[in-house]
Amino acid sequence: MPALVLLGAQWGDEGKGKATDLLGGSVDYVVRYQGGNNAGHTVVVGDQKYALHLLPSGILSPGCTPVIGNGVVVDPSVLLSELSGLNERGVDTSKLLISGNAHIITPYNVTVDKVTERFLGKRKIGTTGRGIGPTYADKINRVGIRVQDLYDESILTQKVEAALDVKNQILTKLYNRRAIAAGQVVEELLDYAEKLRPYVADTVLVLNQALDEDKVVLFEGGQGTLLDIDHGTYPFVTSSNPTAGGACTGTGVGPTRISRVIGILKAYTTRVGAGPFPTELFDEDGEALRRIGGERGVTTGRDRRCGWFDAVIARYATRVNGLTDFFLTKLDVLTGWEEIPVCVAYEIDGRRVDELPYSQTDFHHAKPVYETLPGWSEDITGAKTFADLPKNAQNYVKALEEMSGAPISAIGVGPGRDQTIEINSFL
Ligand code: GDP
Ligand code: IMO
Ligand code: MG
Repeated sequence: MPALVLLGAQWGDEGKGKATDLLGGSVDYVVRYQGGNNAGHTVVVGDQKYALHLLPSGILSPGCTPVIGNGVVVDPSVLLSELSGLNERGVDTSKLLISGNAHIITPYNVTVDKVTERFLGKRKIGTTGRGIGPTYADKINRVGIRVQDLYDESILTQKVEAALDVKNQILTKLYNRRAIAAGQVVEELLDYAEKLRPYVADTVLVLNQALDEDKVVLFEGGQGTLLDIDHGTYPFVTSSNPTAGGACTGTGVGPTRISRVIGILKAYTTRVGAGPFPTELFDEDGEALRRIGGERGVTTGRDRRCGWFDAVIARYATRVNGLTDFFLTKLDVLTGWEEIPVCVAYEIDGRRVDELPYSQTDFHHAKPVYETLPGWSEDITGAKTFADLPKNAQNYVKALEEMSGAPISAIGVGPGRDQTIEINSFL
């Protein structure tokens, strides 16, 4: 069985954690390929709720090996506290593997993220403040610290000193902050080194060998397509590639080994942080979506911006990821609306536009063109099959499928593991 990718089709928080956990019981490896602890993935198992940030959601399935790939940025203190939090709740985390090539989020990069945002003022991105952007910037600038560097004190010291030479100039001269001492950073990182050692591995080799042996490998994206550094709403994006190609560069597994790319798609739209969002609602419908959908950030606790479903974005996600399937989540949240507007195109400066415009200026001017679909009032949280859904809910799903360009193979009707309608098997 080749590899599968599971990723966010909108601006994140689509329900990737739940979808990954659902498949976790049937796959051998679940691999994070980009992002870091900016992600917040919620998994509900029975009466237990887990909020995962850095660990792949497969960690909750005993038969599954969780892997942090080379494309991820790792904050060791967050990772260790996430591991101990799970251990205290009886979850075995001993199978975890971490790529030696993954980059470390150093304390100075968390500082740089926060002060940069403060200095941007009203032009800020609204980052999670976890050091993600500066860590990827260091990686591309070739002054990053990798997990493997923790095991050579002399190399680590040289690299931290080189990075801080420039950073301290910026922190002290531009941002009016105190300089950070290299020795202190090295000491802190060395302290993490021994605790992380049991997990560090050549994950490229492990994953390719697993695929040679017909094991099932699932790549779990963080964030979402419209937050992608190349294909998202730049500059209001994260600093990595959540889109499908990121699964290859972020793990060292070639594209020919991937057979399925599943886009997780919320039945409406949400966004956290700044940036354009054509279907955003500022009225009581937006409030109701936020309240009923529990739309509050798992990582930062910020209220999520809410709006109607945007089919232009869904089509775009199908295109840039080569999606083979959608997993539609949170359909239950829409129960109770008499009519549900769905954005089918945009109006930009008086013209109708059917596809996502490449120009940032155009996208900022995009106004949604809505079609209205009839709603339903029946409780659907116990639905087990597509036929259990009220006719109007079935029609809503079919309409979204037609507009979005890939089959909807599963539907979420509640946060629980068992609150899923499976239409086509993913495996
Ligand atoms: P992720 O970042 O994509 O993993 O998504 P988050 O965990 O940040 O946000 C999704 C939220 O929706 C979580 O609280 C999930 O428990 C919840 N959720 C996922 N699927 C469904 C669903 O089908 N219905 C409902 N009501 N909640 C869901
Ligand atoms: P999951 O995996 C939603 C957003 C931030 C900000 C922008 C850049 O839970 O879907 P960053 O800290 O990454 O430099 O912030 O990206 N963002 C997310 N929004 N869900 C996420 O993750 C996000 N991770 C980052 O709010 O707008
Ligand atoms: Mg989330």
